[in-house]
Amino acid sequence: RLPEPFRVPLPVPRTAVPVRTANGVDHYELVQRVADVEILPGLKTEVWGYDGSFPGTTLVGRSGRQIVVRVRNELPVPTSTHLHGGIQAPDSDGYPTDLVVPKGYRHDPASSGKGDHGHGAGHGGAMHVAPADWTLSQGAKEYTYPLDQPAATLWYHDHRMDFSAPQVWRGLAGMFLVRDDEEEALGLPTGDRDIPLMICDRAFDEDGALRYPSLEPSLTGTPGVEDAYMEGVMGDVVLVNGAPWPELEVDAARYRFRLLNASNARRYRLELEPGGRFTQIGSDAGLLAAPRSHEQLPIAPAERFDVVVDFAAYPVGSTVTLVNTLGEGRTRQVMRFKVARRAKDDSNVPSRLADVEPLRAAAAVAERRFDFRQTSTSDGTRIWTVNGKPFRSAEFAARPRLGTVERWRFTSDFHHPVHLHLAHFQVVARSGREPLATDAGWKDTVDVRPFEVVDVLARFSGHRGRYMFHCHNLEHEDMAMMANFQVV
Ligand code: C2O
Ligand code: CU
Repeated sequence: RLPEPFRVPLPVPRTAVPVRTANGVDHYELVQRVADVEILPGLKTEVWGYDGSFPGTTLVGRSGRQIVVRVRNELPVPTSTHLHGGIQAPDSDGYPTDLVVPKGYRHDPASSGKGDHGHGAGHGGAMHVAPADWTLSQGAKEYTYPLDQPAATLWYHDHRMDFSAPQVWRGLAGMFLVRDDEEEALGLPTGDRDIPLMICDRAFDEDGALRYPSLEPSLTGTPGVEDAYMEGVMGDVVLVNGAPWPELEVDAARYRFRLLNASNARRYRLELEPGGRFTQIGSDAGLLAAPRSHEQLPIAPAERFDVVVDFAAYPVGSTVTLVNTLGEGRTRQVMRFKVARRAKDDSNVPSRLADVEPLRAAAAVAERRFDFRQTSTSDGTRIWTVNGKPFRSAEFAARPRLGTVERWRFTSDFHHPVHLHLAHFQVVARSGREPLATDAGWKDTVDVRPFEVVDVLARFSGHRGRYMFHCHNLEHEDMAMMANFQVV
């Protein structure tokens, strides 16, 4: 019943247009709603999408120009929208308990997450959240993004307490591009040759419905997944921009691809067949100082790689496949490019891209350690924890000072893609050695591999207040693998 790979053309999500501009601020509106879309040819799939589409509408902003996004929730459940990689004030950051509830929804935090502790892997953090902590907006909420940050490939997605994983799985994710003058002066590929590629895996039922092992599919009662999915939920269909194993016809020219791994739990190692290299120009939070060439790109959930691929290196008429060498069978395929024609190419990749100040270890004013690992509660329930503790909304694991740099050291028992809200960081060591070639630049998510020690230098700038950091394996996140920090 699954489609043959490379039969569906690559969709490119539509770009949002402001509903109005006032005093130099662009206002956008996104509506979260249920929609029936065709993902598998000939079948209807119900998704929960921003503007009813999956991926959601792409938002494009300019560095230094504020935008306001009003998110209206027409779904049957609460939501919280986080701009991942964005530097915004705490009340616009999409904190998990800062919810937009549908009109008429009866929200009962006292029962949320208190379901049946005896079974299922997911006893998220709601039980650790004091009722006073919930902030409820009725129907809609305005998120303000100052975009006081350089050009970068960001994304936005749902962050509802205990239910981020199933809600993102149903489609609540979209791209968010920040552009700036410096980047535009570089002459990188633009227009139809600048394409976001949101990669995620999904599983489907025979009738086309998205399949996810929630304990309660209504997503209004007990959170969590069946025990077998403790490590995370994966699917056997690889989607790019919401289409299964799509194909893109390309000119024999340079293309800029903004690769995002939006999967709940799957990691990929991307390569080009029959061979070829990615010229990496950017990382999670912006352009690199200089391009780097890679044959392989390991990409964990929430990481981004901004790359240029030059199809002039391949004969016209040939195909180039983007493969995942961590996958087998169907999950080894991602998408295919068909080199259709020769074409003029004015783009280039200069040898200097952006000013990236390398942080010096000596600049760190504090050093903190965070251990990401599975533990058991007193009743034997297995949960994912940070420093042995599940998430508690009123507890702070760190209080960094605004404007300072700290050294944070992550250790783990498994693969945990660790993400910090607000603070961008540079990876300085993996188990005492040089970081990976693909760790370069400003990042907001780093894949901490089993039994590894990863050191990052993080800069806390922009805003004071409560933010979080967590594992971006979304099932781990829902199982309370999150903690707060307070910028003071
Ligand atoms: Cu992409 Cu806290 O999330
Ligand atoms: Cu994890």
